[in-house]
Amino acid sequence: MDGEVKRLHVTQNSFLLKGDICYSKNREEIVTKENHYLVCEDGKSKGIFPEIPQKYMSLPLHNYEGCLIIPGLVDLHVHAPQFSFRGMGMDMELLDWLNTCAFPEEAKYGEHSYAEKAYGMFAEEMKHSATARACVFASIHVDGTKILMELLEKTGVIAYVGKVNMDRNAPEYLCEAGAGKSIEDTRRWLEQTKNRFGNIKPILTPRFIPSCTDELMQGLHEIQEEQQLPVQSHLSENLSEVSWVKELCPWAGSYAEAYNRHKMFGGEGCPTVMAHCVYNEKEEIQLMKQQGVFIAHCPQSNMNLSSGIAPVRKYLEAGIRVGLGSDIAGGSSISIFRAMTDAIQVSKLRWRLCDDSLAPLKMEEAFYMGTKGGGAFFGEVGSFEQGYEFDAIILDDRTVPYPQSLTLKERLERMIYLSDGRQMIGKYVAGRCMKGI
Ligand code: GUN
Ligand code: FE
Repeated sequence: MDGEVKRLHVTQNSFLLKGDICYSKNREEIVTKENHYLVCEDGKSKGIFPEIPQKYMSLPLHNYEGCLIIPGLVDLHVHAPQFSFRGMGMDMELLDWLNTCAFPEEAKYGEHSYAEKAYGMFAEEMKHSATARACVFASIHVDGTKILMELLEKTGVIAYVGKVNMDRNAPEYLCEAGAGKSIEDTRRWLEQTKNRFGNIKPILTPRFIPSCTDELMQGLHEIQEEQQLPVQSHLSENLSEVSWVKELCPWAGSYAEAYNRHKMFGGEGCPTVMAHCVYNEKEEIQLMKQQGVFIAHCPQSNMNLSSGIAPVRKYLEAGIRVGLGSDIAGGSSISIFRAMTDAIQVSKLRWRLCDDSLAPLKMEEAFYMGTKGGGAFFGEVGSFEQGYEFDAIILDDRTVPYPQSLTLKERLERMIYLSDGRQMIGKYVAGRCMKGI
């Protein structure tokens, strides 16, 4: 009986995909294999072959001949309760926008029925998107965050979800009643969700330094150390925000140091992702590199909120790990294809208009950031190299017809720029088929 169960398990997560395969080897190089077989065994990639190896002959074949097969996309920064107002209220800068749009909407997630309805819409969109993995902000509410985790668990997407912490500089209706209460709620949330999910894991989420007292950051650090949880937050997004942090934390030499002083900024056992990093100083870049902190580059949000343009090439060249984020609703589109295109386009404007020392990003680099670059936050994710977790999406690019003959790489570039979601005919996450043939 044991043997049978084991065999069935292997069968469900073991199969072959056939099609035109692309993945990033590194940030400069995309591997393309036309009409090849991609082997998934027990949820992991076993590599790409021109013919089916004898050993895998008995595996079921999902035949996507003529279609593109690429790694599932990774969204390193998205606010679930802001999905409802994406595309609205976009004529403000960050701090006004938070007070006018984000905070009033997030307050609604204290109500069970609203959270269920609105998070249901977000989860449905994630399910049908090309995103396989995500780092998600919820709101301050414990019950609302639990609802989001339950709904996301059902989509098959793998995600870190964080109950947001904020105990200062927020309107009364969204400000936690002191560091003690914020920590108590965080512990309750962690306790109540412990081991409840397969795909969804918790991540500590101090909103950003202006929202969190030192006492709160210290309490979160204690939880981090005890439970070895990852951390997500915002860093140096907007000029007024950066000066505000200088006022709030005169003891910190930099914004990054305000996190690091509380040991909430990467390093051994503390995987950390910081969104934006538009205005990082030299020492902060060095600290990020040293502590292995990931950057979630969110180009559309940076445009919508007139924040600026992050010097991504500088980060890549410094060896910092960079992925892409939609930053809904700072960003209006949940599509990481769109984030790839935006990243390229804003880097061109930055190069042309403000700083010609940083060459524009190339398509290879944008594809890398949206797959393997961000995927590294989740482990061996975002590639088809042997041993990587098997996340794949299938795009039928024939539905956007073309008259000429194109290389596989040209077809991929075209999909990055043109994909509107309708081309996706298959989606696999950790070897589980969520959509396909
Ligand atoms: N900084 C603090 N909170 C937020 C948020 O919700 N969105 C963005 N873009 N930046 C933030
Ligand atoms: Fe954000």
